[in-house]
Amino acid sequence: MYKDRYGNALTTTSQAAADAYERALDRLLAGRPEMDAGFLAAIEADPGFAAAYAGLSRARQTVGDMAGAQAAIAQAQTLVGGVTAREASQIHMLSLMMGGKGAEALQAVYDHMDRFSRDAVVAQTSSSIYGLIGFSGQPGREAQMLAFLSRLMPHYGEDWWLMSQYAFALCETGQLAQAGDMIDRSLALNPDNAHGAHVRSHVSYEEGDVDSGIAYLKEWLPGYAKAGVMHGHLSWHQALWMLQTGDVAGMWALLDDAVTPDAAIGGAPLSVLVDTASLLHRAELAGVAVPQERWVSISEFAARAFPRTGNAFVDMHVAVSHAMAGEASGISRIISEPAGPASDLVPSIAQGFQDMARRDWAGAARHFKSAMADTARIGGSRAQRDLVEHSLLACLMRQGLRAEAHDLAALRRPVIAGAYAS
Ligand SMILES: [Fe+2]
Repeated sequence: MYKDRYGNALTTTSQAAADAYERALDRLLAGRPEMDAGFLAAIEADPGFAAAYAGLSRARQTVGDMAGAQAAIAQAQTLVGGVTAREASQIHMLSLMMGGKGAEALQAVYDHMDRFSRDAVVAQTSSSIYGLIGFSGQPGREAQMLAFLSRLMPHYGEDWWLMSQYAFALCETGQLAQAGDMIDRSLALNPDNAHGAHVRSHVSYEEGDVDSGIAYLKEWLPGYAKAGVMHGHLSWHQALWMLQTGDVAGMWALLDDAVTPDAAIGGAPLSVLVDTASLLHRAELAGVAVPQERWVSISEFAARAFPRTGNAFVDMHVAVSHAMAGEASGISRIISEPAGPASDLVPSIAQGFQDMARRDWAGAARHFKSAMADTARIGGSRAQRDLVEHSLLACLMRQGLRAEAHDLAALRRPVIAGAYAS
């Protein structure tokens, strides 16, 4: 019987299908361009290869093609007769996920990993920020991610993929030295891992090491095609650092070349919205004049791509887009129709952005503070949630409350506290 790189048996009699599947799995785990191509090649070689449809489903979901993902997992379900127990369980778990049943899917992941610890396809649905744990909305989800990956580590050895995911969990729980060592070891094993390059960027961000971050991405990004799922987001990281160093022209150029909905050709709509809205707002917070048409454009994209609430992290970025664009009905919908596991935090944050747009700094600060106790539940990385942290700091500074801003930064984001010292 053929096996994948992790030693999991594959129900196919075709060597060509098994080979294509193995290549496809590595492309999926490394966020390389055309993540679906290898799974499609495996299916072409063996149209009855259920696991290849399951992999295709996850590859499509990762770039935001939900209809395609659901079609692929439905096809996998028709082929489960005769597959291994692991493959059947994997297809069951992915069916729950593609059906939008996040909590049930996460429980299925835990059950599955207890039995099949080296099934990376299932593990990777919950191993990163935009996964089932990341978007669970639960208190302590960063620690939960670290615990999930810590349990898997002994089963994988020196595996570039899991090491990169573990490094991210270490980074997001503040263990930066260990995270830096782990991601450097991972990247030494596979320098082409786009998720690894991403984690390397986050470690530099959390360390406040702007020069290293810029230098790393300047070297790494040109070798990664724009069609890669992480290209837009890695460009966001680079553009944010450009903003920080005062290279505003460079920031605009990179935004227009790689981050906006028209430019980020490989990214999922979620990433495109979040990265564009976030960069515009972070620029405005830094004192850069953001042309109103840019806000209108991302607000229109947000309305088209996310007509319903349901994911607090997305809704927070929809909210800032509508608020700054002056799109009153859009922002009221976010405030009045919160939905999803962290929906209790969204109205306050949305009202904070609305108040900022009206230049009511005191009102905005009040709203942001009421959501601050556990912003991690919203989802996203620490770097991304700095959208709220920096918004509150700006509101305090604009009221002349420098000492309060310094104390807040010292408590929550010590690495930037120096910028608020009196
Ligand atoms: Fe990131």
